[in-house]
Amino acid sequence: MDEIVALAKRRGFIFQSSEIYGGIGGFFDYGPLGAILKRNVKDAWWREIVELRDDVVGFDSSIIMHPNTWVASGHVANFADKLVDCRNCKHRFRADHLPSLEKCPDCGMSHTLTEPRSFNLMMQTSIGPMEDSASRAYLRPETAQGIFVNFKNIYQSARKRPPFGIAQIGKSFRNEITPGNFTFRVREFEQAELEFFVPDDGNDLSWYDTWVTARKKWYSDYGVNPDRLRFYELTETERPHYARAGTDVEYLFPWGWGELESIAHRGTYDLDAHMKLSGKDLTYFDEATKSKYTPILIESSAGMDRTALTMLIDAYDQQTIVDADAGKETSRVVLHFHPKIAPVQVGVFPLARNKPELVERARHIERGLRAHARTSYDEGNVGQLYRRQDEIGTPLCIMVDYQSLEDGTVTVRDRDSMLQDRVDAAQLRNYLTERL
Ligand code: GAP
Repeated sequence: MDEIVALAKRRGFIFQSSEIYGGIGGFFDYGPLGAILKRNVKDAWWREIVELRDDVVGFDSSIIMHPNTWVASGHVANFADKLVDCRNCKHRFRADHLPSLEKCPDCGMSHTLTEPRSFNLMMQTSIGPMEDSASRAYLRPETAQGIFVNFKNIYQSARKRPPFGIAQIGKSFRNEITPGNFTFRVREFEQAELEFFVPDDGNDLSWYDTWVTARKKWYSDYGVNPDRLRFYELTETERPHYARAGTDVEYLFPWGWGELESIAHRGTYDLDAHMKLSGKDLTYFDEATKSKYTPILIESSAGMDRTALTMLIDAYDQQTIVDADAGKETSRVVLHFHPKIAPVQVGVFPLARNKPELVERARHIERGLRAHARTSYDEGNVGQLYRRQDEIGTPLCIMVDYQSLEDGTVTVRDRDSMLQDRVDAAQLRNYLTERL
């Protein structure tokens, strides 16, 4: 993990937030490559969940909502963790993360842990110039509630009838007691949530299964190692009382299994709660049967920071290879990103940076490919060029050499096999489309 964190900083994937002031716990910044990596993960989710379906619409709600939203959802009363402090080493823990309250896991002292006390995880802010209880508002701890309170606006304007879904990607905030494990548990993060509403016609559990299967396929399509991924089915006691089924999608991180996504059958709980507090009707009125009902909800809620981190960790590899020129063993770090996730898809270089014809030809090729792939032009020592692209997970590298000037071909090197193809530059577009 230390090596991955170092690589993330060195290559511009992820930086500690406000680093020059010593950082701030639980917040991170995405560097030039990290920003693209996370965007690719979000785009892959959005493409699959919204664009390639005709039964899901997209949505984007405000981060700050009417405070009653969080009363109705139960967050004001219940969105709390139990907090424990060690009186000796002053470290702070989540009670449910401790094996026992007898002994501090950090300093090892007995009977130094305080009694667990409740700590609400919602971040507060105030609206307007007065800071009093009337102006109190919350940064949303999940994006889902924006969808629930707009359910009627959306189904009426989009002319959708259940079964149909509403999807949203956006920032959420939680004042985590113990942020940690890099970007795994942070205080500001992005969620991708799908709220899929189905009629109460006996097919709700089958819809739940459909979504579990769809989400399995998504992780598999983007190459996440199946041996490090599991779909853990929650038992009745592990689920909220109103939920008929639930699955946690978990990845085997270097520190153990961690949740990437939760998929849940939530019954009518959320719409009922908002109808009760707001007094507004959020049922679905079926024109065909002239009857109204509260749809059942199937939710898939994935963390985009955790998914991006998973892609990074899953892609990371340290290999011993034989250097073809020197004929001796050497090692390389390579990220085996899926081509759709890789921040750079094609690197283009001239064999020598002091040969203007090579430089001009390489730049020309790179510019021509920009509209079709995420490309990057670079120049320098050949070995270092490949090393740099391997470390950021670029699937293909194009080298313009002297033969290119004679016959118009270039070499294309495959990141994973390190094998090279000789390709006619005029055919590169088709070649890349197929390979990427
Ligand atoms: N609306 C349902 C909901 O929010 P959740 O299990 O609390 O469910 C969903 O959160 C996902 O959001 C998690 O599986 C995780 O990927 C992500 N997430 C939650 N808290 C997080 C945190 N502190 N840091 C990073 N990601 C987090």
